[in-house]
Amino acid sequence: MDVVPLGPGFAAELRGVTLADVASNDAAYAAARAAFEEHSVLVFRGQDVTDELQLAFSRRFGPPEVTKVGSQGTGSHFVILSTIGPDGTVVPSDHRQAMRAKANQLWHTDSSFKRVPALTSILSARIIPAQGGETEYVSTRLAFERLDAGLQKRLANSFAWHDYAHSRGQIAADLASPEERAALPPQCWRMVWKNPVNGRGAIYLASHAYAVEGMDAAAGKKLIDELMAAATAPGTSYLHQWQKGDVVMWDNRATMHRGRPWPAHDARLMVRTTISATEADGVGTMPMPSPQAAE
Ligand SMILES: [Fe+2]
Repeated sequence: MDVVPLGPGFAAELRGVTLADVASNDAAYAAARAAFEEHSVLVFRGQDVTDELQLAFSRRFGPPEVTKVGSQGTGSHFVILSTIGPDGTVVPSDHRQAMRAKANQLWHTDSSFKRVPALTSILSARIIPAQGGETEYVSTRLAFERLDAGLQKRLANSFAWHDYAHSRGQIAADLASPEERAALPPQCWRMVWKNPVNGRGAIYLASHAYAVEGMDAAAGKKLIDELMAAATAPGTSYLHQWQKGDVVMWDNRATMHRGRPWPAHDARLMVRTTISATEADGVGTMPMPSPQAAE
């Protein structure tokens, strides 16, 4: 297996190993897992992807999420990101599916608004537009390491509130449905996720984050905005230009990503599987300690 660096200090292509190898072979999994912990974004090119293979590969990394209410693929292990409507044609730009694609163009990490945050997302390109539609990544680990020591320490003991309705509300007030709001109450997470394998911290924020525990609303929002801007500063990203057969996986603990726009009349179909974070991935360090636990 060859590891070919792609981005500014993170992201790498794995060559000489396939999804099927990782799914079926312990040594291939161990090598891919080590590369994942180190590089945060992994690219596999020229894969012969089926839903079954993608899921078998994904399961290696932990328990797959069940797709939430209101998303295409709800109740399955697949999220279908598509602008193709039920009649097979591309939906108009004011359609819910198109608006959801727009919400994915805000910098975020997947599933920070869920009761169990995600370790990794695995995305495969099934139908790609001729132009645009890239996925752009930044390392929130490198962003954390660029902060001064005082702020690092403060963030490691700060907690932010994440809400799906907040990120969707930036696109349209009613984009999060009443069912989604009921199923996805706000969650509060530590603002730094420390990787248990290498001990390196990463800023844990997203477009879903709207408040900092213990700070007044405006000051908390300002801190979130400043950290998001620092994490996504020009020159810090890796832009993935999709080719047929590409599969990209990323560490939701240590990166943010966003979709990039593409011509509205072009179809785009991507399939995502998402793996929940477990104790071994450090999830137990993320909730705000209860007052009883602190005593
Ligand atoms: Fe995403």
